[in-house]
Amino acid sequence: MTIETWVLIFALAAIAAVFAWTLMTGSPPTPTSRAVRRTILATLPARLPGDQAAEVYELGAGWGGLALALARRYPDRQIIGMELSPLPWLVSLILTALNRPANLTLRRADFLNADLSGASLVVCYLSADVLARLRPQLERQLRPGALIVSNTFAIEGWRPLESHAARDIYKSPVYLYEIAPRDSDPEK
Ligand SMILES: C[S@@+](CC[C@H](N)C(=O)[O-])C[C@H]1O[C@@H](n2cnc3c(N)ncnc32)[C@H](O)[C@@H]1O
Repeated sequence: MTIETWVLIFALAAIAAVFAWTLMTGSPPTPTSRAVRRTILATLPARLPGDQAAEVYELGAGWGGLALALARRYPDRQIIGMELSPLPWLVSLILTALNRPANLTLRRADFLNADLSGASLVVCYLSADVLARLRPQLERQLRPGALIVSNTFAIEGWRPLESHAARDIYKSPVYLYEIAPRDSDPEK
């Protein structure tokens, strides 16, 4: 077989893998655009809630671009990107191999089975259906005061603290949420 045939087979296999995992997870690995990334970073506070041990999670980290930007923005926090689709995850490892900040970990993991209780901030760019599946987990696991940022898709049933439109052609919304104190919380 010629090298061109091998390249074609490899490209088709890569496309098929991305497609198969998109069907499985319900979210394609579309990266957050630069305009939306800027809006997300501008929406986030300079100081995150919780102490330094509280982590930042990028749920469905895709090709790793947004997780890397978060690691640079919060050098004193551990940033954990979780991605299930093998190809974007592998590419994110390769792309960040040379200059991955020490505070960035990119795990191949299903965030729906993860323990997010240590999070001070959760960032997501996920479809409305996936957000609906994630919502009870966030309500159960996150501590009061934890922040959630969602790119484009609102979390149904939650009222955002803020929402901002990105400067892109879609005016993509970015939603910021905060976990409210629990009913049983004496300081509420
Ligand atoms: C729209 S992309 C966002 C990529 C990246 N967060 C960004 O903003 O550039 C959503 C990603 O979430 C991943 N995903 C969806 N459900 C997941 C799950 N349960 N666990 C891990 N990753 C998941 C998909 O594979 C996809 O790569």
